[in-house]
Amino acid sequence: MSAKNIHVVIVLFSLIGIETINVQIQGTPSDGILGQTSLQLRCSYTTVTGEYVTGVTIQVKINGQFKNIATFYTPSVPFNASLTTDGNYLTNRVTLTNPTTYMTDSAVIQFSQVACADENEYMCQVAYAGSDGSTSASSGVANINIKGNPKQPDSVPSYVPSTGIEEGNNVVFTCTGNVGKPQGRFKWVRYRRNTNGDTLQETPYESETTTAVQMTGTCTFNGSSQLKLKMEQLDNNAVVRCQVIYQDVPQGSLYRQTDGINVYYSVRNVQVTKSPIIPTFTEGAGPIILTTCTSDGNPAVTNTGYTWYKEFNTSVPLWTGPTFVINNVVVNKTDNYICVAQNSFNGQTFNMINSIHIQIGK
Ligand SMILES: *[C@@H]1O[C@H](CO)[C@@H](O)[C@H](O)[C@H]1NC(C)=O
Ligand SMILES: *[C@@H]1O[C@H](CO)[C@@H](O)[C@H](O)[C@H]1NC(C)=O
Ligand SMILES: *[C@@H]1O[C@H](CO)[C@@H](O)[C@H](O)[C@H]1NC(C)=O
Ligand SMILES: *[C@@H]1O[C@H](CO)[C@@H](O)[C@H](O)[C@H]1NC(C)=O
Repeated sequence: MSAKNIHVVIVLFSLIGIETINVQIQGTPSDGILGQTSLQLRCSYTTVTGEYVTGVTIQVKINGQFKNIATFYTPSVPFNASLTTDGNYLTNRVTLTNPTTYMTDSAVIQFSQVACADENEYMCQVAYAGSDGSTSASSGVANINIKGNPKQPDSVPSYVPSTGIEEGNNVVFTCTGNVGKPQGRFKWVRYRRNTNGDTLQETPYESETTTAVQMTGTCTFNGSSQLKLKMEQLDNNAVVRCQVIYQDVPQGSLYRQTDGINVYYSVRNVQVTKSPIIPTFTEGAGPIILTTCTSDGNPAVTNTGYTWYKEFNTSVPLWTGPTFVINNVVVNKTDNYICVAQNSFNGQTFNMINSIHIQIGK
């Protein structure tokens, strides 16, 4: 029968006066939230003159069949509403309220603690006496969905390898935790930072998959996601964040992030300057100061990681340390002065050089 036909039938019944009890069931809200108390299931009936309700049962689908879970009485029967054997699973979690009149009223299950098991289909049946004697009427079916709020990730993201990471290494980050119900996901964000911890660049990674399994004892999902990053020089001191996304919305404080990640890289950008900055020094002038003004590397080059040579004779180092001073300015010290900077990690040593020409005239 089409919807149109149903309307016609209802209109016909109304016209010829065959009105009778109307029974409805409704969950409020229709989405319960795990552990919360706001969920109410209400079976309402509207009688017509001459009908007297004697009892109400609320039913839930168990193994494909609707079974009574709670029985309610109207004032004619001096019994408290009670759970049936099939409704025992609700013990201590619900308050049942009887209707208070035989006519238009409702029976209510108020949940004091919503559980996964409450996600189900519900209906109710009202027993009443009318002109045709005792009979009953059923409601339609109400669905209750149960949602579970996600939690902070279990821990800060773990990563492998966790130590000795070098520029060029692939590092795999892993994040796990309760992503809620319906199943949420994790989003990753990399924050590249300078040595002061200020963020220089923020890169979101949205497309990493989150796999999830329903946790035993609850219906919420335990998610797990991995991010693989090839570490570069700029990733030294970066932090990687795992952020919970629930119902497509990033959940503000529900994230955990790594501390700054140490990424080793070989020494580079060695630069040498002279002071004063003049093209030609005069013999007997004051000291000439040669400095490695910058060198980059992780670990940073230490003072003893700098060694100076004259190009004329590189077999003998002139000096160790970032600053070399030519005190006795004589013509035969004209030369290219070479600075070698060195750092080492993971059992390897790296060198990078630069030089400056010093011209001394009479
Ligand atoms: C109904 O419950 C109330 C309060 O729990 C109790 O005092 C009363 O005895 C109960 N009545 C019946 C008929 O069980
Ligand atoms: C989620 O699963 C991981 C293993 O994949 C486990 O280590 C973790 O404890 C689980 N988290 C929760 C909240 O159950
Ligand atoms: C470099 O200096 C050392 C020590 O002063 C000396 O023994 C060596 O012969 C010099 N080499 C050259 C190429 O001048
Ligand atoms: C450089 O010149 C100074 C004097 O001006 C002299 O004492 C010294 O021996 C010279 N050194 C070389 C390597 O020629």
